[in-house]
Amino acid sequence: MTDETNVSSVSSSVPSSVSKETNVTYLKDYQPPAFFIDTTDLSFDLQADKTVVHSRLAIRKNPQSSSDMLALDGEGLQLQSIAIDGKLLEESSYQLNDSGLCLSALPKKFVLEIETVIDPAKNLTLEGLYLSDGMYCTQCEAEGFRRITYYLDRPDVMSVFTTKITADAAAYPVLLSNGNFLESGECDDGRHWALWSDPFRKPAYLFALVAGNLQSVDDSFKTMSGRNVALKIYVETKDLDKCDHAMQSLKNSMKWDEEVYGREYDLDLFMIVAVDFFNMGAMENKGLNIFNTSCVLANPLTQSDMAFQRVEAVVAHEYFHNWSGNRVTCRDWFQLSLKEGFTVFRDASFSADMNSPTVKRVEDVSLLRSAQFAEDGGPMAHPIRPESYMEISNFYTLTIYEKGAEVIRMMHQLLGAEKFRAGSDLYFKRHDGQAVTCEDFVLAMEAASGVDLTQFRLWYSQSGTPVLDVAESWDAVTGDYTLTIDQSCPPTPGQNDKAPLIIPMQMALVSDAGLQAVPCESLKNTVAASDSNDYMLSVTQAKQSWCFKGLASKPVPSLLRGFSAPVKLNFAYSLEDLLQLLANDNDGFVRWDATQRYAMQMIEAHVDGSQLIDSVLGAKAVKALGQALTVLIEQGFKDERWQPNYDAALLAEKLRLPGYQYVLEQFESIDIRAIESAIDTLQQALASQLKTVLLTAYSNLAKQLAALGEYSPHADHIALRSLKNTCLAYLMRAQDSTLLSLAVDQYQSANNMTDQASALAALVNCPLADAESQAQNCLDQFYTQWSHESLVVNQWLRVQAASDKPNALQRVEHLMQHDAYDNTNPNKVRSLIGGFCMGNIAQFHADDGSGYDLLADEVIRLDSLNPQLASRLLTPLTQWRRFATPQSELMRAALKRIADVDSLSADVFEVVSKSCAD
Ligand code: TRP
Ligand code: ZN
Repeated sequence: MTDETNVSSVSSSVPSSVSKETNVTYLKDYQPPAFFIDTTDLSFDLQADKTVVHSRLAIRKNPQSSSDMLALDGEGLQLQSIAIDGKLLEESSYQLNDSGLCLSALPKKFVLEIETVIDPAKNLTLEGLYLSDGMYCTQCEAEGFRRITYYLDRPDVMSVFTTKITADAAAYPVLLSNGNFLESGECDDGRHWALWSDPFRKPAYLFALVAGNLQSVDDSFKTMSGRNVALKIYVETKDLDKCDHAMQSLKNSMKWDEEVYGREYDLDLFMIVAVDFFNMGAMENKGLNIFNTSCVLANPLTQSDMAFQRVEAVVAHEYFHNWSGNRVTCRDWFQLSLKEGFTVFRDASFSADMNSPTVKRVEDVSLLRSAQFAEDGGPMAHPIRPESYMEISNFYTLTIYEKGAEVIRMMHQLLGAEKFRAGSDLYFKRHDGQAVTCEDFVLAMEAASGVDLTQFRLWYSQSGTPVLDVAESWDAVTGDYTLTIDQSCPPTPGQNDKAPLIIPMQMALVSDAGLQAVPCESLKNTVAASDSNDYMLSVTQAKQSWCFKGLASKPVPSLLRGFSAPVKLNFAYSLEDLLQLLANDNDGFVRWDATQRYAMQMIEAHVDGSQLIDSVLGAKAVKALGQALTVLIEQGFKDERWQPNYDAALLAEKLRLPGYQYVLEQFESIDIRAIESAIDTLQQALASQLKTVLLTAYSNLAKQLAALGEYSPHADHIALRSLKNTCLAYLMRAQDSTLLSLAVDQYQSANNMTDQASALAALVNCPLADAESQAQNCLDQFYTQWSHESLVVNQWLRVQAASDKPNALQRVEHLMQHDAYDNTNPNKVRSLIGGFCMGNIAQFHADDGSGYDLLADEVIRLDSLNPQLASRLLTPLTQWRRFATPQSELMRAALKRIADVDSLSADVFEVVSKSCAD
């Protein structure tokens, strides 16, 4: 019998800390579970500092396993009692330690009952059961369920769950869990209870519970087989007016998954709950998705266009997990990309279908090439199927998600849409209800398509970003044009030698007359591209050539169209070549990429000391952008030549120039001050040289939008606002104080957050001395207007943290003391600290190291509260090797300072130790 004397002393408020010889988990060590849990009946008695969890598990020995030991995971739990088949166990019959509970000499089949006590109020890790603004919620992926009760907390143990929740009726009127609602009742002490049951077997990471004072927006969806599904989005009363967009996105997602993948929803109820304290975007718990408020709430007055698009994408992502993740789940966490890469690919295709495919592609590629490529080139580089980890939470990375999605996208290209769909159908048919591996996915794709993916599998095991060096040769006499492609991949941690991958390289040949289609000798074994003027080169070797016959003149190669593979592409484009692509290529991605490359050449030249930005060719680029803008103005922002309507958005992307992160990625050794000066000069040049046309565009766009009337999150409207606000940002940099009133007027008259926040940002970043007091007025006004809207306050924090003005760091330190700031709320920390360290690159990398000091202090402070958040915040410091002095040494010193802290979490320890390793 257990009593108070043998409860575990670890409190749930303390994150799992580790000794410096942290455990490493290896894929090669995978063993099937020794036991299965057929049913899991949970009962929660919710009290803030003493929640009692009772679990009743029907356990069965796995005949396949040789082990007799039942090793249950458990962290930060107080064990109250444990019984087998109704008999309480003596303390001597089990072993209890910091990471769990071990039982041996067990029958083949038995019922295990365990009672634990946990303390949700003190749980700031936001894993397991915790309180978010007075409401109970859970986050169990990846290993949070072990903070609720002792369990086989691994995705290959799947069980049928029932959940009974008891709580105070007045404070927590709504009690939710996975699956279907069964019944509820009152207790005599002012408490009430509800019983839920989920008929689908699932791993513990998909368990969820919510209790709070919530209200719902309700709707319904009729599935393809005619079933009616009730849809509910639960929020606080004040947010009921911000749920329409998420609801519409949910219905669109449900329909899209039926039409494009043949996937129907399986329960009679689908719920979304919005919580303010959340480590990530959202979580796909079966039938009960839990969302960060930032990924559900969308009202034109309080959220910007970007937020609307994020809500649509995240709602779709979590909904799509119902099949790619829940019905078919992962065998172990090394297979994480099985569900995440595939689901990101699915949500990206959905967003492309709902909006502009080219703009969506440009946004995704921007993220990949700036942040994922940096990860792939840094100390945390890992394959999309990693081989080991210290802390699995560190592996919810851009590599697993975004590169993982690119790998699925390449499979889609290699197989073609039809065979890919057949492969997906087979995958779901074969593995419904199972926990499987990436290999199972590839096998299903091979079986359904007949395509051999042997070489393709290397994309799962090799880390690092492959590089394609492309060279051309032109024979003016024969009209032969030859492209030679060298494939390589730099060494990454633990992987020095890489084998050639199969890389789908979609390309075309561009001349003044548009795309040239001529025979290509070496294309016999390549996959046909859908567009007849496109070639799909299958790059499979270290070096290969393709010869195109009988061209009238030397073409400009349009390479990696649509960004057909996640690689770095080197080709010595002249500035004239890039202008040719910009003018005559029909691939929107390549046109955008041409502007990126053009800008990079100017930035690189400026860093090297030449004045290319002001030179003739620099002027030509500015002129080209100006012309594109003029054409759009003349056509009322509908360029019929390319994709109608959306080109305004694409032009805005082009005008915005490469982001800081992307620019840094292009340098071997980063001289941050020289890059800062180059970016500044380029922006100023654009702003002042294009002033007139920007002004015309701005006022025409404003008129056109006003004529469209009410706000709409439709892509066409977003495109116009995006271009308008890009023009405004430039105009505020044109060193012309007569223009200041544009931003002030837009700020004052805005009837949506996109326009209001854009005007605010433009003012805050305006270099004119006259702008300062105006900017401060608007900032004060903004806070007064929105202090009751937590998410809007986050935008207010972010715009100040990201300010170009030289005192941003002092401002951040000042804001950390502000009433509106809460250093236990991840959204606030990400807005202020993340907004500075990742959104204000120049000042974060100040020569005196003050930016690094701030970050190191915050990481150390946060690590004892919320290790997942601390570890993510740390990312910019991991890039220290890429920087020149003094930045590199200062960054390393900041990492060392963190590394020296006693009892770091496994999360932060893994990142600092890998970053400092020689
Ligand atoms: N599976 C979630 C998603 O991709 C990710 C997630 C949500 C998560 N919350 C988490 C991962 C907490 C780790 C920890 O949609
Ligand atoms: Zn996901």
